[in-house]
Amino acid sequence: MLELVSINGTITKPEEAKISVYDRGFLFGDAIYEVTRSYGKILFAVEDHIARLRRSAEAIGMDLMKSDQEIIREMYDLTKEAKEENIYIRIQVSRGNCAFEQVSLKPSNTSKPNYVMYLHELKNWSPEFYTRGIRLASSRIHRNPKTAMDPNIKSGNYLNNILGILAKKQEADDCILLNPDGSVTEGSTFNVFMVKEGVIHTQEDSANILQGITRHKILELASELNIPVQYNNFHWNDFVACDEAFCSSATKEVMPIHSLDGNIVTSGPGPVTKKLMDAYTKHIESYCEKSKGVHPLAW
Ligand code: PDD
Repeated sequence: MLELVSINGTITKPEEAKISVYDRGFLFGDAIYEVTRSYGKILFAVEDHIARLRRSAEAIGMDLMKSDQEIIREMYDLTKEAKEENIYIRIQVSRGNCAFEQVSLKPSNTSKPNYVMYLHELKNWSPEFYTRGIRLASSRIHRNPKTAMDPNIKSGNYLNNILGILAKKQEADDCILLNPDGSVTEGSTFNVFMVKEGVIHTQEDSANILQGITRHKILELASELNIPVQYNNFHWNDFVACDEAFCSSATKEVMPIHSLDGNIVTSGPGPVTKKLMDAYTKHIESYCEKSKGVHPLAW
């Protein structure tokens, strides 16, 4: 499998890639990141991902020290070097190395940020994740509250999400984290939606979740398709009793949910989920078609 890494602009094989042991991302998770994928030679929604990277940087008081265009250009440079279509790309930016090469939480006098990009061939989900759906379980671990560490910051610290997976209540493909009051937040690396009587239910924008770029597009598509959407923080008990459900992320796209804590929701996508899966596929095609002609950096 092809793999490449870029560290502060230098492209290397992963086994040769090196980062300081004083890097604050490595030591403390004091970093932010984004993940997107390519379709053919086009990095999908890359502008939206870098805009969110910038919002995450602002939220933690980090200066990216590069323009969006410079960052996107470096991502495309790495993609071109790989000469590979359909790749996974992750960009992680840490606040930098600790001052004076001493382990210290204080961010003052940190070096400039470290940019690390990982690229590998995209491993497609096995088809049954779309024909049957993903099996999800709730976790005994709660989502960390916004007032402690806002999940809308896409930080390099995913310990809350990892603990969520480790504390799944049942054997399942992945987990969903709840708030202490039992309301649903999101999956370990994806947003979730439920459908009841033809209405899509999704959390309020102020909820304890990452505002997914895929989620945002799905809600736009739902509006174009005249599918009603209700923004409310629904409870796990309502979720388990829904008519259909699906999840979303840059790598999952729109994926039906088969079961929740072992309770079967649907076998295969329900009608609303199917409409959105089809609409999202069309959206990808039209984004790539438009970008081919005009994207200055696409190869
Ligand atoms: N994860 N919620 C969490 C906690 C996430 O980590 C992600 C993305 C999402 C969906 O966001 P988007 O639609 O913008 O991809 C929601 C990426 C895919 C990852 O960490 O690999």
